[in-house]
Order: sequence, then C-alpha cells, then structure tokens
Amino acid sequence: MKLVLIGFMGSGKTTVAPILAEKLGLEIVEMDDLIVHKAGGKSIAEIFEAGGETYFRELETAVAKDLRNHEQAVISTGGGVVMSSAAMDDLVNGAVVIELAAPFTIILQRISSNIPRPLFGDADQAKALYELRKPLYSKYATVRVTTDGKSIEDVVREVTQEVKKL
Ligand code: S3P
Repeated sequence: MKLVLIGFMGSGKTTVAPILAEKLGLEIVEMDDLIVHKAGGKSIAEIFEAGGETYFRELETAVAKDLRNHEQAVISTGGGVVMSSAAMDDLVNGAVVIELAAPFTIILQRISSNIPRPLFGDADQAKALYELRKPLYSKYATVRVTTDGKSIEDVVREVTQEVKKL
C-alpha cells in the first residue's frame, strides 16, 4: 500500500504522516527531506534563494519520479506539489491520495507560529495560493479529511477508516 498525503502548508501532513505510517506498519517518506538531500544538503530556504521556485519544483519533480514505484509507504508531500502535473503523475501511481484540509484562518494561525516558509510571504499572498491550489487538491485526492478541531489521533483514525473502506 502507498498513501500520499497532500494539502496546503499547515494542513497537518508532516505531523500526521509518521503516526499514520507507524499505525499502518508503513515506511514514512518526507518529500521535503529528500529534496534537501537531492540539493546536496541545502535547506528549503537555501534552495529557493539559489534558484527560486523553479529550481525547487525541478528537485521536487525529480524526487517524485524516484518515488514512482515506491511501495509500502506513507509519502508526505510539500504543499505545492499539486502545481506540477509531472510530479503528480508519478506520485499517484498505485497510490491512495489523501488530502488533509483546514480552513485558511486555521492555516494562518498554524503557519505564523511555525518555521518560515519561502512561499508564505504575507497573508494575502498565502490566501491567493490557497485558493489557487484548493481545486487541485480536490482533483487529485481519493479521500479528504479535515484536520481543524481534531487531535492528531482523530485524524489518523479517520484516515485509516476511510482507507479501509476503499
Ligand atoms: C511549499 C510547501 C512546503 C515546502 C516548500 C514549498 C509550497 O512544504 O515544500 O516550502 O509550495 O506550498 P509544507 O507544505 O510541508 O510546508
């Protein structure tokens, strides 16, 4: 089984993925970590500084390709992966795609107190990105689970139940 978690920055992917993986006995794969590795250890911020979003997406698409036949894993993606149809084509291969979703107001609260994200300039810019990507998450997702007002355990339980129904 391969589960791919998609969703906007701050939707809960990175928090939920390892717990979900442990519960299902699957490997946890964090795409952002593999992107950092592919860039020779440059941080996400350094990757954006060096080559902008274009360079970041190239690395992300290359990592998605490497993962095309990767099985028995929960793959946690970066929020913008849905912007690349090539990356998504590789990621959805044989996978159940799960969207983690939260209203923008909640995202804003979670993100502002968290590590800086290069694409999260200000609230208006982030809101525009959120609206732009919303239909893309729906397009690719097999299952959609909201995370606001729920504990991590609640979300993990809900995802597991939804996956079992498939
Ligand atoms: C991005 C989200 C980040 C990271 C990069 C680009 C985006 O991941 O991949 O900064 O385009 O939304 P998270 O969704 O884990 O914050």
